Amino acid sequence: MKTFEQIFGNGWTVAAEAPGRVNLLGEHTDYNDGYVLPIAIPQKTRVFLRPGATDTFRLYTASLDETAEFNLTGLPDRHFARYVYGCLRQLETLGIEIPVLDIYIDSNVPMELGLSSSAALEVATLRAIRLLLELPLDDVRIAQLAQRAEINYAGVNCGIMDQMASSVADQERMLFLDTRTLEREVLPLPSGSEILVVDSGKKRTLATSKYNERRSECESAAQQLGVTALRDIMAPEKIESLPDVLRRRARHVVTENNRVLRARQGISPEEFGQLMNASHASLRDDYEVSIPELDQLVAILQNQPEVYGARLTGAGFGGACVALCKPGSATTLAQTVLGLYNRPGRKGRLLVPEIPALAS
Ligand code: GLA
Repeated sequence: MKTFEQIFGNGWTVAAEAPGRVNLLGEHTDYNDGYVLPIAIPQKTRVFLRPGATDTFRLYTASLDETAEFNLTGLPDRHFARYVYGCLRQLETLGIEIPVLDIYIDSNVPMELGLSSSAALEVATLRAIRLLLELPLDDVRIAQLAQRAEINYAGVNCGIMDQMASSVADQERMLFLDTRTLEREVLPLPSGSEILVVDSGKKRTLATSKYNERRSECESAAQQLGVTALRDIMAPEKIESLPDVLRRRARHVVTENNRVLRARQGISPEEFGQLMNASHASLRDDYEVSIPELDQLVAILQNQPEVYGARLTGAGFGGACVALCKPGSATTLAQTVLGLYNRPGRKGRLLVPEIPALAS
């Protein structure tokens, strides 16, 4: 792996990092002003930077071994650079003058698996610049700027869950977040449980266009029901008047918000697991963001006696699954599950907990 010095010739001035996240419950609720329950994962993105030695921004990503050069007047061609560019442009809207920078990114957050590698990059970038320029931005403001960067420059009309999770969540406790008010609370995992995250080996496809389509469907549903957002409806019978597709989309959001509020009350791991199973069924049948591989992996996970519950996590259309399981069972559980899931030549792998012998 090339170092900062090898790429830019000199040492960095500041460094910052931010984690990826896995969402336990509350999927596709954030852009409906609803409730979410993510937790940070051990994988992180690190950003090292210094004022630049040339007149263009230079960016290098060690994970992709790619370089990009850009200035602030034109969107970079390279997709990975757009997240950083977007953050810089958002800072400019606050009247902050950004000097030319040399930026080095190193990340072990898996990409395109629904674990928020883009939010980790945005939050780490903004944290590094906050440090360099001594900006008075708190962590919530950082998350809001990161979300705007993603919407305006990466083309995903996302909610604020990922950026808030990357900016304020930790690895030990779940973050309950009301995405309308940004009221938040850190909560312990259900007693006697731990988290397992498994990659299905299928990268997300069509995620951006389908994601944006789901969001507009929810907005139409809210409009037809005469509410600001679907979060304003908590009783599933109130959506019965909607036409079929919109009714199913809305039913997912309404039931999912109810599941998060139930989970917030400090329930047993068994009940939490049932909520995760119900969430998966709802994402598969009503929200239609699953794919056969995710359904199979989830079914295998759900069949294990050490597993309380499992579901796809993140936007869907591929990526990873999350399970709540009995503590200390992860290594053997992962071996059993992956043994079954990978039999037809699939490339599933364990992501959390990080066990080096199994992780690659
Ligand atoms: C992506 C988005 C989030 C959220 C999830 C689905 O990760 O970035 O804002 O909508 O999908 O829950």
